[in-house]
Amino acid sequence: MPATRDSRPIGVFDSGLGGLTAVHALFQTLPEESVVYFGDTARLPYGSKSRDTVTRFSLEIAAFLVRQNVKCLLVACNTASSYALEALNRRLDIPVVGVIEPAAKAAVAMSPHGRIGVLGTLGTVGSRAYPEAIDLLAVGASVISRACPLFVPLIEEGWLHHPVLRQIAAEYLIEMKAASLESVILGCTHYPLIAPLIQDLLGPEVRLVDSGAEAARATATLLSERGQLASGPPRHHFF
Ligand code: DGL
Repeated sequence: MPATRDSRPIGVFDSGLGGLTAVHALFQTLPEESVVYFGDTARLPYGSKSRDTVTRFSLEIAAFLVRQNVKCLLVACNTASSYALEALNRRLDIPVVGVIEPAAKAAVAMSPHGRIGVLGTLGTVGSRAYPEAIDLLAVGASVISRACPLFVPLIEEGWLHHPVLRQIAAEYLIEMKAASLESVILGCTHYPLIAPLIQDLLGPEVRLVDSGAEAARATATLLSERGQLASGPPRHHFF
């Protein structure tokens, strides 16, 4: 095996800090890779913005990361992946990995009867990116989606264990709880931070899919297939 094949960093972006959950997964899956992370905290949230705006922001950030000499782009933000993946693929010469397809694949693999739930922002759920991706992989799967717009502000506020969050989550999950789901996609960068609460409310038989972690694994596969894995020591930059 060659010692170093491509030591350029992996570019990762999100609307804010939530995408660090994907970076954490990347560190675990690919400990020798360098990462350049961009969190657009100045313009967060993306979940309530239009397709055009999120696409414009995504293209701007991608151009910045390309200038940092990244070898591929991981779009950790579910809203940006839902709206802007096509535009990014058209515009960039480097490979782009979004969260939608890897998470949809994982959910389908975990759901023999195709009973899948999707939690996300208003943008992600409204775009129908997840149900469409799941339908391509498992025709006839029954997908229940629920936008959870109050989760991100409460998580940003640090109210991870606040009773208000539990009450709101219980309300959001009523329909999913009654639907005997096999898996539920955490279709937002922030939701892995409240995965224990969601698991507790849905019950132990429902398997949760961490979209960032799945995208990190897809990035590992992509780089390995292209012979572009690096060998450390890694250097990381966070913007
Ligand atoms: N990063 C966004 C996502 O994964 C959530 C936060 C936001 O609304 O910007 O959809």
